Amino acid sequence: MEQYVIKGGTPLKGEVEIGGAKNAALAILAAAVMTDDTVTLSNVPDVRDVNVLLGAIQDIGADVKRIDKHVVQINGSTIQGLSVDYEYIKKIRASYYLLGALLGKYHKAEVALPGGCDIGSRPIDLHIKGFKALGAEVDISYGLISASAKKLTGNHIYLDKVSVGATINILMAAALSEGKTVIDNAAKEPHVVDVANFLNSMGADIRGAGTESIRINGVEKLHGTEYSVIPDMIEAGTFMCAAVATGGDVTVRNVIPKHLEATTAKLLEAGCQVVEYDDAIKVIATKELKSTQVTTLPYPGFPTDMQPQMTVVLGIAQGVSTVTESIWENRFKYVDELARMGAQIQIEGSVAIITGVDHYTGARVQAPDLRAGAALVIAGLAGDGITVVDDIYFIQRGYESFAEKLQGLGGQIEQTSSEREIQKFVLKVS
Ligand code: EPZ
Repeated sequence: MEQYVIKGGTPLKGEVEIGGAKNAALAILAAAVMTDDTVTLSNVPDVRDVNVLLGAIQDIGADVKRIDKHVVQINGSTIQGLSVDYEYIKKIRASYYLLGALLGKYHKAEVALPGGCDIGSRPIDLHIKGFKALGAEVDISYGLISASAKKLTGNHIYLDKVSVGATINILMAAALSEGKTVIDNAAKEPHVVDVANFLNSMGADIRGAGTESIRINGVEKLHGTEYSVIPDMIEAGTFMCAAVATGGDVTVRNVIPKHLEATTAKLLEAGCQVVEYDDAIKVIATKELKSTQVTTLPYPGFPTDMQPQMTVVLGIAQGVSTVTESIWENRFKYVDELARMGAQIQIEGSVAIITGVDHYTGARVQAPDLRAGAALVIAGLAGDGITVVDDIYFIQRGYESFAEKLQGLGGQIEQTSSEREIQKFVLKVS
């Protein structure tokens, strides 16, 4: 078991390079098997979820080459199996993107049914509704979702709830269907747009991605392409919050500032200074953070994937803040851990009522999921004394070189794998 051990209290300062978006990369890697030509993808983050998905893609017979740390080449012409094993789905739900990709290309696919997860129950009824509307038969039995179709035909699909996953899965299958598909109440997240741009670069005809109505004219075949994944707005937002919570001054580079508008707006309300450049954002913390209200919503609203990091910032802001989680019902699990570091937060249903404290105090805490884990690291960096964050496996699912990047900003943090190493770090910093 590995952990991050942190000595808090040093304001983060300097510049940090943001990697490719994990949630865009996962969908794009799955979509890359939809042609028999070679696809070369750059700016692919080297994080655990991506590597698990690459394993699943290889397992069905596709040729996967890592050209370098962030460049992956995929050739789907050698695919033999159309069934994605539970081993992958249980590690990473996004393996279900192979359902849309394989259904579109081969008119048949099977993936193990994903269960719930750490942040809430995660139904996939909307994905299934979309596949059925395109003419697929979908069967759920023996823990598997099987989808097959003699032919896929475009249709008008209304998503009852805004869903990133369903929008992308339907988009992939529809790209190779006959005729026109319209997805209404579609997700508008930048990663949805990135997947559409990627498919278009392979010869698909998709318009309107980024709006609530996506129109797809099905094409017969897709071809190879070279494509670069967009920057990760959540990784960027995480470093912005880390800068603010530690009273620092950090420039996040290789970002698209527009994607970060919701996070930027809330940091401005908290009293910080934010300077936007073409592809960078500089955040300068204020001496006294102010309270504010946050509600998570689908893009362009405040992202649920930034909720724990923002809560950590507001936990040391003056006055009472509220954070309302409207996407996942179980995304406040980390609050009990944060309370062990001195936070005063009360949960009332989907609302966290946060009474700002002067500072956090170091403690041994456990990362309950990816973003909450990152948030606890931020609290450790901002607080007094030593914090140990256990179960950093979750954090490594979505953050590449997290400790190294924080060290580059002056953060006193190390990855350890034993009590002895923790003690060594404590001796070194005290
Ligand atoms: C994506 O999950 C992200 N994951 C999540 O990021 C993110 O939290 C979420 O979108 C919301 O932005 C990936 O991209 C791999 P949804 P996804 O379908 O696609 C309900 C992270 O930290 N719903 O947009 O699974 C669902 O219950 C992760 O990187 C249905 O009801 O999310 C939720 O309330 C965690 N039926 C809402 O929609 C369905 O068929 C949004 O879910 C599908 C979803």
